[in-house]
Amino acid sequence: MALQPLSSLVKQLGSQPIIFVGGKGGVGKTTAAAALASYYAAQKKKTLIISTDPAHSLGDVLNVALSNEKTAITPYLDAIELNPEIIVDAHFAQVERTISGYTNPDMMPKIREHLRLSKSAPGAQEAAMLESMCQHLVAAADTGYDHIVFDTAPTGHTLRLLVLPEMMGAWTDGLLAQQRRQAKLRSVATHLDASNHTDNKNDVPNPFAKHKPDRWEQAVTVLEKRKELFRQAGLLLHDRTKTAIVQVMTADVLPLAETKRAIEQLEETKLTPAAIIVNQLITPTQTDEFWRQRADRQQQLMGDIEQTFNNYPTYPIYLQQTDVRGIEALSALLT
Ligand SMILES: Nc1ncnc2c1ncn2[C@@H]1O[C@H](COP(=O)(O)OP(=O)(O)OP(=O)(O)O)[C@@H](O)[C@H]1O
Ligand SMILES: [Mg+2]
Repeated sequence: MALQPLSSLVKQLGSQPIIFVGGKGGVGKTTAAAALASYYAAQKKKTLIISTDPAHSLGDVLNVALSNEKTAITPYLDAIELNPEIIVDAHFAQVERTISGYTNPDMMPKIREHLRLSKSAPGAQEAAMLESMCQHLVAAADTGYDHIVFDTAPTGHTLRLLVLPEMMGAWTDGLLAQQRRQAKLRSVATHLDASNHTDNKNDVPNPFAKHKPDRWEQAVTVLEKRKELFRQAGLLLHDRTKTAIVQVMTADVLPLAETKRAIEQLEETKLTPAAIIVNQLITPTQTDEFWRQRADRQQQLMGDIEQTFNNYPTYPIYLQQTDVRGIEALSALLT
């Protein structure tokens, strides 16, 4: 598929309720995501933009201070900058509540200490962010937004976010199976304890019999809810009529190699991208020798890019004189 005019990008994505913008660091993901969201909002399409990048640049690009809660930028545009610290704290507070539901209270100080340390364990923020992202994804799909645009962190992270719902689903399944086995054991133990009670001369309490089954049930309900959340998010992400993945790159050798790998990985997990944006292109008519050479080099690479990604519509965005900030300038970038 040849290079498409940029004006077709907003048309192509016009019917996609969920748009993920991914790519290598610094290529223009936040700019592209904010431009798409600003454009659709200007067209009176109710739009939500969510940044999953802990670097907080979405607020800078939109010229608005954002937080972990929704901020209304216009009547048609809401924005959220997910805050990993707030999300991790809320996530672990919930884990603690769940665990305290079925654990001997004497154990809780040790467990609390363990949870406190776990907050900074590798992957903890990612898992908590993923859950929050899935919650927003599933909730926003039900709350009447025409578009939900995700501005994501650099490539690897995005890919992990996209495949994690399935992994977390499998992990939760394992945990649920284990809990079911333990619940069975406990019910046998309770039964034995009850039937032995009359002639239990030593009166040794059965440690398994102490637990109240309804507390277990609560813990299982939490896990089952989480599993259902990941299942729903996974379904939305894999539905090509709902979710469009837009890969942003620049016309340079390393971004080309990395984007090729990223797209191969996406294809393997059946999350084929909808479009590729080649950003920061230099207009070919340059008088200055330095800029002319750079523009020529980019034009050569554009040939490779079109060939490499010939299955995907590819859109150019040209390098602007200054950073693109504020909803008017962002929206104008795509027209
Ligand atoms: N087409 C463009 N013209 C001019 N400046 C641009 C363009 N695209 C992006 N920029 C600038 O390049 C810088 C990086 O862009 P941006 O923050 O959108 O990239 P990113 O991929 O989100 O980065 P990160 O990986 O750090 O999140 C910003 O200063 C942005 O204003
Ligand atoms: Mg960014």
